[in-house]
Amino acid sequence: MSATGKQRKRVLMVGLLCQDILNLVHHYPAEDEDVRCVDQFWQKGGNAANSACVLSSLGESTEYLGAVSSRAEASSALQELRDFSVLTEHVVYSDCPIPTSCVIINMQTGSRTIVHGHRNMAELTAEDFSNLDLHQYKWIHFEGRNTAEVCKMMGIVEEYNNNVATPDDVIILSTECEKPKYKMGHLIPKVDVLFVSKEYAESCGFCNAEETVTKLLQRVKKGCTVLCAWGDQGADGITSGGTHYHCQAFAPEKVVDTLGAGDTFNASVIWGLCRGTGLEEALRLGCRIAGQKCGQVGYKNLH
Ligand code: FRU
Repeated sequence: MSATGKQRKRVLMVGLLCQDILNLVHHYPAEDEDVRCVDQFWQKGGNAANSACVLSSLGESTEYLGAVSSRAEASSALQELRDFSVLTEHVVYSDCPIPTSCVIINMQTGSRTIVHGHRNMAELTAEDFSNLDLHQYKWIHFEGRNTAEVCKMMGIVEEYNNNVATPDDVIILSTECEKPKYKMGHLIPKVDVLFVSKEYAESCGFCNAEETVTKLLQRVKKGCTVLCAWGDQGADGITSGGTHYHCQAFAPEKVVDTLGAGDTFNASVIWGLCRGTGLEEALRLGCRIAGQKCGQVGYKNLH
């Protein structure tokens, strides 16, 4: 396939779409306090959905796939994805309430405290996933959740990759180990690009991003790149050959909203790598755009 042919293909982001209810407050409330917020609004959330919006804003043809509530209350979250020009034609509808996060954004620090209700939402299955025509995609990112099914979905992509006509048709697989509770260990050796959150790294006993990428490189498959963002300490990445890069954080003038900063980092790195930048530049893009996100509320106009 020609380079332009590959460019026309989509990036697919698989994972959660939820409703975030953001409460912007002047100070973090004490238990049982009755506070008024400075602002309150609804925003779509979920790691895969957030990353999809950022990637699409950056100019990448992007599709979101997940199990989505068919109820009226969920329509604004889905519409918001579409407003970001994210393609959604393969989402699987389920008659469940939309998972919802109540988020407190402390405007003094930008910290985001999330109380998430999953509300028995169905998860996407490998059977749903098997209905896709994989020729449309050049990169598939799986949010690290629903691990057993995601493992099967990755198997479907592996099989597709083993039978493609040319190496250009091979789909790049990535995932993020974010929440330790999802026990994602057996996904680690399956991907080409592995994102690791600070929380996951700490749960493995790692003390910083460099240690994380260096140690996890021993558990990934040949050719895999590993990245780890560590909040205001910046981020590290390592190539499959062991070349290590560090990039400092791009702190905005004032940190106002860190919700989805990690999702923004992942999307920006994927964007860079899709455009053929090396790891060092992709890492820099991730840190720069995640920094920009922390300096504003929401995900609009990131560039
Ligand atoms: C941010 C986020 C929110 C969502 C929560 C789910 O990374 O995706 O949008 O409410 O995490 O854990």
